[in-house]
Amino acid sequence: MVQLHEQILRDAHQSMLATRMRTEDMLPIADKLDEVGYFSLEVWGGATFDVCIRYLNEDPWVRLNKLKEAIPNTPLQMLERAMNAVAYWNFPDDVVTKFCQMSKKNGCDVFRIFDALNDLRNMKTPMKAVKEAGGHVQACMSYTISPVHTVDYFVENFIKLEKMGADSLCIKDMAGMISPSRVYDIVRGCKDAGIKLEIDLHSHCTSGMTGMAYQRAAEAGIDILDTDISAISGGTAALPTESVVAAFKDTEWDTGYDLKLLIEIRKYFLEVWDKYRHLHRFNALKVDPSVTVHQIPGGMLSNLIFQLEEQGAHDKYRAILDETARVREELGYPPLVTPSSQVVGVQAVMNVLHGRYKVVTKETKDYCRGMYGKPPAPIKPEIMKKVLGPKWKDEVIDCRPSDLIKPMWDEKKKELQEIDGGAYIKKEEDIMTYILFPQVGLKFLKGLAKPEFTSKQLPLPIDHDLMRGMVKQSFTEHKAIWLETESPENRSGGPAQIPTEFEVEVDGEPFEVKVNPTGGFLVAGASSAAVQEKPKDVEGGIKSNMQGTILSVKVKKGDKVKKGDAVATIEAMKMEQEIKSETDGEVKDIFIKEGDSVASGDLIMQIL
Ligand code: CO
Repeated sequence: MVQLHEQILRDAHQSMLATRMRTEDMLPIADKLDEVGYFSLEVWGGATFDVCIRYLNEDPWVRLNKLKEAIPNTPLQMLERAMNAVAYWNFPDDVVTKFCQMSKKNGCDVFRIFDALNDLRNMKTPMKAVKEAGGHVQACMSYTISPVHTVDYFVENFIKLEKMGADSLCIKDMAGMISPSRVYDIVRGCKDAGIKLEIDLHSHCTSGMTGMAYQRAAEAGIDILDTDISAISGGTAALPTESVVAAFKDTEWDTGYDLKLLIEIRKYFLEVWDKYRHLHRFNALKVDPSVTVHQIPGGMLSNLIFQLEEQGAHDKYRAILDETARVREELGYPPLVTPSSQVVGVQAVMNVLHGRYKVVTKETKDYCRGMYGKPPAPIKPEIMKKVLGPKWKDEVIDCRPSDLIKPMWDEKKKELQEIDGGAYIKKEEDIMTYILFPQVGLKFLKGLAKPEFTSKQLPLPIDHDLMRGMVKQSFTEHKAIWLETESPENRSGGPAQIPTEFEVEVDGEPFEVKVNPTGGFLVAGASSAAVQEKPKDVEGGIKSNMQGTILSVKVKKGDKVKKGDAVATIEAMKMEQEIKSETDGEVKDIFIKEGDSVASGDLIMQIL
């Protein structure tokens, strides 16, 4: 018998509907889902927390409570990013421990825990916390292809995870690129090595090989397979639940699930799919076997195309693809998943635009220092020297990254208590929301977040602002083809026909950007006035070398600075980079402030 892990309420809509499914569209079908008898039902974690507070004006903790109440029999599962919890950076042990305890208390039973680099040290704290809280730990290995990611590598690490106290194991093929023979060898290898724990395969249909991979996984003795109810499946999402159930019917892998019940559930989600039509994206429905050639996940490819657009380097697509593979190798073959996919992707773009490692992002430096964990393979000294300078050895840490972070809970709790007399703490979980997402979380807690849409408004009328998403998608698609096949001179259609608002995705997490008519890019909601007031050029002008948001201004007018001093930091697509002074001198004028959006080439300050 094979069991299924149903992902319709998390991964399916994160893959196909920008994670936007609202709780009110989940609850009416909850009792039916609970009847199926799944191994577990994934409902929380991943990008859902962020999207709830950022775009839906929904309290993620309340969602979890409501689903638990509506689904009392099936274990509820969440995706937990090791020391990142449900955010994108490392937290100290006290926060991660408390996060796991709270999630358990609020209704989560099974915790799927993964680390982007498969650094098992990063998984220890959440695993321990979940065990102590009485939860089920499903420990993952992030799947990727490289000379170090051999079958033995996966089997050996799964043995370690079993010893660390995992309750079940998961091959997390987040890019959907595992092949039938590969999955067979890993599962068989685990079983032959005497691993007793149940093994789960998580994959996506991206490569087009997934159906065959599931069959071979079953033949090798897989215990659990991840699927999505067919209404929101295939393409960049997972295989359809009903198809897998039908395929295994009357075989030794029969799930025993009621197909009629599943078809009833499918009918419900077909309506949901239709209601959310403004989020349909044609590309997401297709398979993309190119991943089998360059091993770059589909989501990351569209991100790379976007990065090229924003840096005004349309012609460099091929070069960047090759450079991405090269940078990934040089950085020790990290699996390309949040946040390592951004580290590698942005560094590759920088290398092609500015010369190899001439501009190094803060994230690449942190990665090489070991701040994300230990890279799967060692990084060569010559690369370390390029990234961190001649004294690179002094900068590298060999401890677990979170060992360097001081406990945070008490301090942050006090901080939030002091904002408007503690008016925004209605429950302990609100403090966690604030710690995980200081800006977006606080805005949400203050009641200032606005939902993009409510369930009652769906489907959105054709003239609704958000309907542009569909136009944008086909535009991006054509643009991607054009990038490869045409020179800019042959480009048809004038700027007037080009949409100015885009939604881009990084690993299924949506970002909104606006393109201003002069060619610069603005993050949605940012004021364009600030940008227009800026002079184009001045003597001693320091300019931004990338599009992004000013994260911090490190100097003030009148400050003396030295050549190479960091004067500001800029953030784009979650990547942070320092802007440095090009000369010794005094800060004469500052043209930006924290939170401003700048385009590549925009004036930042004047230093003479
Ligand atoms: Co997934």
